[in-house]
Amino acid sequence: MRTPLIAGNWKMNGSSALVDAFGQAFADADLPESVEVVVHPPFPYLDAARRALAGGSVKLGAQTLNPLHAGARTGEVSGRMLKEFDVEYVLVGHSERRELYRESDDDVYDRLLAALNADLRPILCVGETLEARDAGRTRDVVLRQVGHALAPLEPAQRARVTIAYEPVWAIGTGRTATPEQAQEVMAAIREYQAGFDPALAQSMRLIYGGSMNAANAAELLAQPDIDGGLVGGASLKVDDFLAICHSAR
Ligand code: 13P
Repeated sequence: MRTPLIAGNWKMNGSSALVDAFGQAFADADLPESVEVVVHPPFPYLDAARRALAGGSVKLGAQTLNPLHAGARTGEVSGRMLKEFDVEYVLVGHSERRELYRESDDDVYDRLLAALNADLRPILCVGETLEARDAGRTRDVVLRQVGHALAPLEPAQRARVTIAYEPVWAIGTGRTATPEQAQEVMAAIREYQAGFDPALAQSMRLIYGGSMNAANAAELLAQPDIDGGLVGGASLKVDDFLAICHSAR
């Protein structure tokens, strides 16, 4: 059995007030025990979020990390630093980082490895652009991204990775992949994994991201290969995010 994971990626959004609102709402919330919930606020709010969520079951995640432990890398944050703030999860390879900050497949691998070496749990984001989908290259693009990141890892390292399939054309656009479109790609990822390690393919969590909201979450999460969600915009609204967490039960 795979434990569903609902992760809220705030991106460069939020405020101290939103951290407090989450802390209050989640302190009282009757979250399903069978669902793992993580919030990924921007770096400056991690410590406040840790305190606001203390004592509850919601875990803390970061949105990126630098491959190095420490050094002359102005503006960057290392996995070791994140660990000091009780961060458990970290996103790597988000399409916004790949596109806007030119992170290559090699950069994504370096960050994935750094996360594993820092004892964090990476969420590896993969997904095709609309251009690639229209050209019939969805499977090639997604499996290349997955393979580049996972193939060099040891089996025990791979077992610590969650994969988020986020079609680029569905991110922040309100245009969600249909449950069938998402299921098709996620089944392909699992099948590809089975080529390496059949047991791991069955246990590895695959989550969907791209305009997931309180209205469409249940239908997406009902698909056999969708084990959770990586939620952007709807994770900034406490009630909507809670509703999505309940849909994963
Ligand atoms: P939206 O839910 O806003 O489309 O964002 C998805 C995403 O990129 C989560 O990482």
